[in-house]
Amino acid sequence: QRHIISIADLCRAELELIIDTAGRLKATPQPTLLKNKVIASCFFEASTRTRLSFESAVQRLGGNVIGFADGGNTSLGKKGETLADSVRIISSYSDAFFMRHPKEGAARLASEFSSVPVINGGDGANQHPTQTLLDLFTIYETQGSLEGLKVAFVGDLKYGRTVHSLAQALSLFGCQFYFVAPQALAMPDYLIDELREKGIACSFHQSIEEVVDELDILYMTRVQKERFDETEYQYLRSGFVLNTDMLANAKKNLKVLHPLPRIDEIDIAVDSNPHAYYFEQARNGVFARQALLALVLTNHFGV
Ligand code: CP
Repeated sequence: QRHIISIADLCRAELELIIDTAGRLKATPQPTLLKNKVIASCFFEASTRTRLSFESAVQRLGGNVIGFADGGNTSLGKKGETLADSVRIISSYSDAFFMRHPKEGAARLASEFSSVPVINGGDGANQHPTQTLLDLFTIYETQGSLEGLKVAFVGDLKYGRTVHSLAQALSLFGCQFYFVAPQALAMPDYLIDELREKGIACSFHQSIEEVVDELDILYMTRVQKERFDETEYQYLRSGFVLNTDMLANAKKNLKVLHPLPRIDEIDIAVDSNPHAYYFEQARNGVFARQALLALVLTNHFGV
C-alpha cells in the first residue's frame, strides 16, 4: 500500500499522472469509481478547503466518508488515547485514511500504524502534499505546461508549508524562482541550497513590482500576523499586499494564485481581475484529491 506523506513521495512521472487524471476527472465526472469504499477524514486541526474538498471528492466518486472535523472531541482528545491506537482503530474501519494534525511528523507516525493508505492533509509547518497537487494541476491548467515557468513566491516564505513543497515539486520541471519577502520571512537556507544543487535559478526581492512583469505565476501567501507584534507585522507586510495597479504590466498569461485563506494580502478588487485564479485553484482541490484517491485506491501507481 502507498502512503502520501510528503510531496517527495511522488516522482515526476507520478505527478504528471495525477495532473492528467485530475484534468480528466474535471472534464468527465466518475460517480462510481469509489463505490463501496469507505474513507476516513480525520482533522485534529482547523480546515475549510482541505477537509471539505477532500470529502466532496470522495462523495462525487461514489465513496463514503467517516471521520471528524474536531479531533479534540475524540477519545484521543478527551481520554488520552494515543495517536497510534487511534490510527489502528480508524484504519480498521476504512479503505484509506486522510488526516491533518498540528504536529510535524504526525502523518508519518500514523502511516506506521495504519493498515490502509495514509494521506497527509497537513502536519504542522512541515508538509501539505495535496495542496501542492492542486497547485500543480492549476498551474498546468492555466499555462499548458509546467516546464521552465517563471514563478514568484510572495509573503511568508519561512513558515509557509505550501511554498516549500510547491518549490520542491516545480524544481523537477526546471522552473525559475523569484522569492519576494522581507529577510525575517525568507525562504529557509536548506531549501535554497537544495534548489541550487538542482541547478534552479533563484533570485530575491523586496517588492512585487520588481518582478511582476516577468512572471507566469504569482503565488501569494499570508504573512502570519499571529507570530508578530503589530508594529513588526505592519513593517513585514508592506510591499507584500497585491493590488490591481501592480498588475498593469503583467504578461497576459500571468495567473495570481494563493492557497487561501486570504486575510488582506490580496486587495479584494483583484478578485475580478482576469489574472486572479485563486478561487478556481481552491475548486481544483476536489479534482486533484480525486485523482490522488483514484490512484492510491485503484493501485495505478508505479508508472
Ligand atoms: N489551503 C488550505 O489548506 O486551506 P484550509 O486550511 O482551509 O484547509
